[in-house]
Amino acid sequence: MGTVLIGVLVLQVLSHGLGLPTGAPTSACKDMMPRHAGVQPQPAPVPYTIHTSSRSFQANQPVTVAIKGPDYTGILLEARSGNSADALGTWQIPPANTRFLQCSHNPQGAITHANTNVKNSSTTYTWMPPDGVSNIYFKATVAQQRTVYWLNVRSETLARSSNGGVLLAAGGSSAVWDQGGLLVLIANILLILFFPS
Ligand SMILES: *[C@@H]1O[C@H](CO)[C@@H](O)[C@H](O)[C@H]1NC(C)=O
Repeated sequence: MGTVLIGVLVLQVLSHGLGLPTGAPTSACKDMMPRHAGVQPQPAPVPYTIHTSSRSFQANQPVTVAIKGPDYTGILLEARSGNSADALGTWQIPPANTRFLQCSHNPQGAITHANTNVKNSSTTYTWMPPDGVSNIYFKATVAQQRTVYWLNVRSETLARSSNGGVLLAAGGSSAVWDQGGLLVLIANILLILFFPS
């Protein structure tokens, strides 16, 4: 009885998404591959997209990230730049059922799942940009269930902005105003000031 139970536990650990039910190990930081032998990633098309709160980033301005698509159980999420496999920036307090993973010598360098509870499109991750990198993208491995996963789920590239987009938070959602939007806003304010009706 005891032996059977241990056998079942060992099998579960060996076959779980991203290697372990409690998240990817540090050894997965670079290749972002699940650590279970013999289970191939799913082919394209990838049912997931990575959405970001902003299309640019700047120092000390957090960017929120969500994985849109079907519910998922396993995740490994990093910010990358160019062809480098280094995980960049610093993730903030992980949402429920997820945790930090140490990558690039940073204890908060990546996010992985903490258990196999369901995560969904509402699960949002918060990331702080690093210094000294001009553009980044988010890259994820997403597991729907233990043997069904996709590698190389990628966001658009986010460029560092020096002037900064103006981030407007409205009712829990946020929108980015680029410089053009800001100029229109200023022009409107000037019009109202100079030509009050
Ligand atoms: C996501 O999961 C949470 C917690 O399980 C749930 O409350 C929420 O309704 C779900 N959202 C979506 C969009 O499925």
